[in-house]
Amino acid sequence: MTAASNLGGITGLESLEMGAARVQVDDKKIINCRADLNQLVPFKYKWAWQKYLDACANHWMPNEINMAADVALWKDMNGLTEDERLIIKRNLGFFSTADSLVANNLVLAVYRHITNPECRQYLLRQAFEEALHTHAYQYVIESLGMDEAEVFNMYREVPSVARKAAWSLKYTQSLGDPNFHTGTPENDRRLLRDLIAFYVIFEGIFFYVGFTQVLSMGRRNKMTGTAEQFQYILRDESMHLNFGIDVINQIKIENPHLWTDEFKQEAIDMIREGVELEYTYAVDTMPRGILGLNAEMFREYLQFIANRRCAQIGLAQQFPGAANPFPWMSEIMDLKKEKNFFETRVIEYQTGGALSWDE
Ligand SMILES: [Fe+2]
Ligand SMILES: [Fe+2]
Repeated sequence: MTAASNLGGITGLESLEMGAARVQVDDKKIINCRADLNQLVPFKYKWAWQKYLDACANHWMPNEINMAADVALWKDMNGLTEDERLIIKRNLGFFSTADSLVANNLVLAVYRHITNPECRQYLLRQAFEEALHTHAYQYVIESLGMDEAEVFNMYREVPSVARKAAWSLKYTQSLGDPNFHTGTPENDRRLLRDLIAFYVIFEGIFFYVGFTQVLSMGRRNKMTGTAEQFQYILRDESMHLNFGIDVINQIKIENPHLWTDEFKQEAIDMIREGVELEYTYAVDTMPRGILGLNAEMFREYLQFIANRRCAQIGLAQQFPGAANPFPWMSEIMDLKKEKNFFETRVIEYQTGGALSWDE
């Protein structure tokens, strides 16, 4: 792979020649694609296009959600315990910058190297959703009148938050280097490592303690607007995760030489590290048990999730017998639900449906 053809990932211009051959489905590889990157069809990966359509049908905006009950409860000095306030603050601290990290990884690193047009179409939609998520956290922080500098700086100042951010940053930084190109086994593995770090661990493990804590408050009728924002975000995130897993598995199918025993062990080690970091975060956000939850339950939940993540990308499960202490979380992730979970308002959930021209 030459640097010029890799730059096709950015411009696609090398294919703009008179009489150039039409795009063949088989040429549209997920990485190191040699086809014209500006031609969306014919589709090679229908799952990627379908996920783009599903995501668009699931559109929502943070400012459509009523935050009045949350504002009243947050300002009432007897409304929440100190432990409950800590959960809200720490989670906004983590998530308010986490989605920017994900968006930057997508736009500045992943998008450059995923060269299939229908996958890129989904990446563009995902990037917009990450902007919506950051918007949602900012909207909550502003509505509650929180100290914005304190919250947005937690990813530097609170160790359990900072460690998760620092862990992920090392995987994205090198890929954003303009001199980095895929096309060698070593570099293709760097991209795969970044995809595993962000899709499987960051979005697939690092979000789950916070989501469970905040959604659990919503189930107890506390901070229901905030919980509803998190509910919509979780639904988006479960689609991001599934897209990432499909991409990782497709790269494995097309490039089996990348998936060596050594690399598999590295991926397992990354997932195990992710579980430890997220467990530390659970202890830090919830030093005492509340809401029927405690840090030990999160250990088992994270092991249960890690087993699923391993299975999803074809690795051996690492925590045999780990059960799910929060089965209600699966219900919240069900994208087909049309009414919102906390009954704060009924939402016309599906938008962007197909137009029919037949009478
Ligand atoms: Fe997000
Ligand atoms: Fe995401």
